[in-house]
Amino acid sequence: MEPVVTMDKLVSLCKRRGYIYQSSEIYGGLSSAWDYGPLGVELKNRIAQFWWKEMTQLHDNIVGIDAAIMMHPRVWEASGHVANFSDPLVECKGCKMRFREDQLPEENRISKKCPNCGKDLTEPRKFNLMFKTHIGPLEDAASIVYLRPETAQGIYVNFKNVTNTTRVKIPFGIAQIGKAFRNEITTKNFIFRTCEFEQMEMQYFIRPNEDAKWFDYWKNERIKYYEKIGVRAAKLQFHEHGKDELAFYARRAVDVYYEFPFGWNEIEGIHNRTDYDLQQHTEYSGKDLTWLDEETKERFLPFIIETSAGLTRQVLVALCDAYDEDEAQGEKRVVLRLHPSIAPVTVGVFPLVKKDGLAELARTIELGLREDYPTFYDESGAIGRRYRRQDEAGTPYGITIDYQTKEDDTVTLRFRDSMEQVRVKVGELSARIRSEIKNYKRS
Ligand code: GAP
Repeated sequence: MEPVVTMDKLVSLCKRRGYIYQSSEIYGGLSSAWDYGPLGVELKNRIAQFWWKEMTQLHDNIVGIDAAIMMHPRVWEASGHVANFSDPLVECKGCKMRFREDQLPEENRISKKCPNCGKDLTEPRKFNLMFKTHIGPLEDAASIVYLRPETAQGIYVNFKNVTNTTRVKIPFGIAQIGKAFRNEITTKNFIFRTCEFEQMEMQYFIRPNEDAKWFDYWKNERIKYYEKIGVRAAKLQFHEHGKDELAFYARRAVDVYYEFPFGWNEIEGIHNRTDYDLQQHTEYSGKDLTWLDEETKERFLPFIIETSAGLTRQVLVALCDAYDEDEAQGEKRVVLRLHPSIAPVTVGVFPLVKKDGLAELARTIELGLREDYPTFYDESGAIGRRYRRQDEAGTPYGITIDYQTKEDDTVTLRFRDSMEQVRVKVGELSARIRSEIKNYKRS
């Protein structure tokens, strides 16, 4: 039996409903680049807002920054990315296809034969993933800049700025959301792995001997976050990195994995980066990045526990996890069971018919709700079709204005997941929706 959610179904729904389009489609598309449409950008923004609130507002001692994408090139020498941020590239001598050696099927890795045409593969060579460009009119070695491959370094180089201008005390965190770029050898699975993507990273600065404690703390916090945002617990698991998997900067790393239609894969990394980054930047910049602990009068380089999540990858998680099919009035229904906290539209508002003043009444009710929720007004087509369109777009609540509304000032409130309907007083709608969102449980 075909699984409920497949990548083909998802890609087609995303295009149909205005979530995600192929980049530069009218020119034939750019491989692995994607544009977020009207619903897609709302979903992405709402996930970003959810994460930001969770990591800053709901945690003591975490502040945010927004650093530039282009940074001094020495940053990337200090961080180790110029020397080490590479993947093993192999090329087929026959069809010229390129692969990451560590992602080849085992038999091809051993036989050194191309999985596409069976011809010989070249020996692996290190391929640096950073995009390089030049700043200013001259294209020489002095003008090289990189597009950042992780947002984290923008936080490390601002460590002193933040500690000098705020009242944070160790342990404390600095959070950031922004674009990152990697010249990936193979990009695939829709928006899962792309060359341009967005990260949501938080660097937690701690006393060196407290790394085990804070690592476990963040591991727990981050899994709770995914459940809070509506991801089903059965689809989540941890993956602890073996010694051969660890990134060059990490002493310990645990990934959060999600079960995508193409298998279990990473959505976030929790890393113990020790004092590696601050030590490197101290050495390369010549600036003192130590922290003076007012309590103990000790001076030390803080250790860092990093939580590094992909925002664009989380959009894919939200969509994969929400996609469902069931039946409504004897017909197949496609429904996105997005958590109401991140759904692009919270409330659809529909007059049963356009005539007899119902459209005007519905508009007035919709305008009243706009201040509180993202709304969508729709008066075209049969009411069942309008419900179905919003179910597919992931809108959790629908309000229908009918003739009874004129008599007793009530509307029907319809629930996307169960398709149940209840009558609610217009004046109580906003509070009722708030309470529904707060107590939402996926059915
Ligand atoms: N600062 C640490 C760091 O960047 P990472 O494991 O390389 O760690 C963290 O990346 C997260 O960024 C990943 O778990 C993933 O969600 C996202 N990510 C990394 N490369 C990506 C790509 N090419 N496309 C989309 N998301 C990516």
